[in-house]
Amino acid sequence: MITAAGVRLGFGGRMVLEGVDLRVPRGGRTALLGKNGCGKSVLLKCFAGLLSGYEGRITVDGRDQGAMDGGVATGPSMAYVFQKGGLFDSMNVFDNVAFGLRRRGMREDRAGEIVNESLARVGLAGSELKLPSELSGGMQKRVGLARAICLDPDIILYDDPTAGLDPILSDSIADLILEISDASSATSVVVTHDLRLVAKVAREVALLYDGRVVFHGDTESFFSKEDPFARQFIEGEIEGPIDIY
Ligand SMILES: Nc1ncnc2c1ncn2[C@@H]1O[C@H](COP(=O)(O)OP(=O)(O)O)[C@@H](O)[C@H]1O
Ligand SMILES: [Mg+2]
Repeated sequence: MITAAGVRLGFGGRMVLEGVDLRVPRGGRTALLGKNGCGKSVLLKCFAGLLSGYEGRITVDGRDQGAMDGGVATGPSMAYVFQKGGLFDSMNVFDNVAFGLRRRGMREDRAGEIVNESLARVGLAGSELKLPSELSGGMQKRVGLARAICLDPDIILYDDPTAGLDPILSDSIADLILEISDASSATSVVVTHDLRLVAKVAREVALLYDGRVVFHGDTESFFSKEDPFARQFIEGEIEGPIDIY
């Protein structure tokens, strides 16, 4: 389980997170929603230990994230799927996916098996020798997914996995996220503003607004629009608690 309590973080004197309280259940699929620039990626990076220096407390399975050494050395393992795939552009697809396994000191033949399995799962068998620049945006995201799942993480943090994709490609990424979640007991957190993705993959929704979580509930109650913040976000209305300007 991931918990955030009173998390505050700003840059250059401007606050982005103003007291985030959230509990992400273990094994679940939680969507973290909010409009552009509201701090979703910042919060996800704090969960991952990629950003520090926040006030308040983040724990992962009871351990302080600040003390987790980027989540690598101790505690549950985490994978972060970067918005644009986050690939090393000088490395081919195989080496990108193998990177984490090699860093763990895995034997090359075993790493190769896992890389090939992971690439097959995301529909990219045969693309091993391509460079990221030879791939479409959707394919780069799939490589990013393969790199995450090959580490068999306890927690997968997805940063805007469908950003910039057309609806059909977005649906295929949503299917993959579901498959990955069903095939493991991993906890998934999906940062997005894509309501189709939310409807398809999330069990819970947390809506971030003005530096705080203003709605947190199951996906049905989010889409029931009984909550004024949820309703305004879904309908894109001008009138409501969210100040759109
Ligand atoms: N490392 C950083 N340094 C300075 N400002 C940042 C940094 N990361 C994010 N920000 C700012 O924080 C705000 C929230 O960014 P972000 O979390 O990326 O938004 P989003 O909800 O779209 O993912 C933005 O105004 C962004 O410019
Ligand atoms: Mg973002």
